[in-house]
Parts: sequence; structure tokens; C-alpha cells
Amino acid sequence: MKTIELKHPLIEHKLSILRDKKTGTKEFRELISEIAMFLCYEAMKDAELEKIEIETPITKMNIGKLNEDNYAFVPILRAGTGMLDGVISVIPNAKIGHIGMYRDEETFKPVEYFFKVPKDIENREVIILDPMLATGGSALDAIELLKNKGVKRIKFLCIISAPEGLKEVEEKHPDVQIYTASIDEKLNENRYIIPGLGDAGDRIFGTK
Ligand code: PRP
Ligand code: URA
Repeated sequence: MKTIELKHPLIEHKLSILRDKKTGTKEFRELISEIAMFLCYEAMKDAELEKIEIETPITKMNIGKLNEDNYAFVPILRAGTGMLDGVISVIPNAKIGHIGMYRDEETFKPVEYFFKVPKDIENREVIILDPMLATGGSALDAIELLKNKGVKRIKFLCIISAPEGLKEVEEKHPDVQIYTASIDEKLNENRYIIPGLGDAGDRIFGTK
């Protein structure tokens, strides 16, 4: 599936502040959460609704309602947790799983250290959260871990992505729809995204 890039003046505006190295932790965190909400909004475009009958103060009507029990959010630690507030504000009853992973600084390969997901994860559409998709290694591992648990419907939300990583994930998992706020230019020699925003985890948690 071809990656969906949000192209919207408001998103570009938010990214202009997010990417700026002068932006501090508080504002950075708020923007990550806000952009995540927009990504979630786009990702829910194909959601199936159940028809219910309600009564407005004026009359009865039939209307579509989302069954929130059909969804789970799975942030990739640490940086993915920065996106949780935003997505939970729009689907508050979704369950939440966590995948702990960091990218080894020398090999650039992901190292898994935690995995805990809701018991009935295989019955849910799973929306993975990670602000950065660089080489795609972390995304690939997270998708494989979830598929091994029996998950059949997966979406991946990331704020900034690199063409190299997107190509890997699109080729290996054509059934996973990726949503991103920006497809950037390329990776540098340290596999950081250019122009990117630097290290998302460090900027969210103020660890550098
Ligand atoms: C970052 C980011 C992704 C990964 C992307 O995490 O949040 O998980 O790198 O890189 P990849 O596409 O090349 O795998 P990081 O390793 O910095 O861990 P952190 O979230 O704990 O800071
Ligand atoms: N992880 C980040 O946080 N930033 C990058 O540019 C690449 C990986």
C-alpha cells in the first residue's frame, strides 16, 4: 500500500515549529500529540460504523457509531508514547499495548526490550505509533511481533518518515497502511532523517 502523506497547510505550519531546534520540550510534546491526532483522524477515514438509532431533541434518526472496542493503539517506546495523548483524545476507549525498542547506535538495528499487548489483540485493528520511521527497522520488527500474535489489520502512524524506510516497509508488508505527516528527503550517514527533527525521544523527554 502506498504511504499516505498528510498534505495540509496546518500540518506544515505545525511541522515548522516542531522541526525548529529552538522549540522547547513542552511545545515539542504538545505538537507531537496534536499532529498524532490529525494522523489518527486521517487513518480512521475508512472506519466501519455501526448504524444505531438515537433521538435528538427534535426527532429520531439513524446514525453511524464507531465501535471503539475494535481498536488498539501500540506505541513503540519511548518516543511513540508522545503520540498517545493525541490519539486517545479521539478514540478514548481503545486499548493500549506497548512495544519497547531502541535502535542500536552502531548497528542501527532495533533491540527489543518490552512487549505487552491487550489479550484480545488479534481481534482488533492495531494502530502502531512512532514519530520517526528512518531505516524502517523498528517498524518492521513491531509489525512482525504483532503479526506473530495473530493481528491481521495494522496501520502505522509516524510524524516524519524517510523514503528508504518507507520502501522497506511497503515492500515487506504491503497490507500495512502507513500515514505520515511528512516524507523527508533521505537518511544521513548516522541514519538520521534529513531534514528531520533530530532525536524524537530525546526532544520529547528532554534527555539530551
Ligand atoms: C527512534 C524512533 C524509532 C526509531 C526509528 O527510536 O522513535 O523507534 O528510532 O529508526 P529506524 O526506522 O531506523 O528503526 P530510538 O531508538 O531513538 O529510541 P527512543 O524512542 O527510546 O528514543
Ligand atoms: N530516530 C530519531 O529519533 N530521529 C531520526 O532522525 C532517526 C531515528
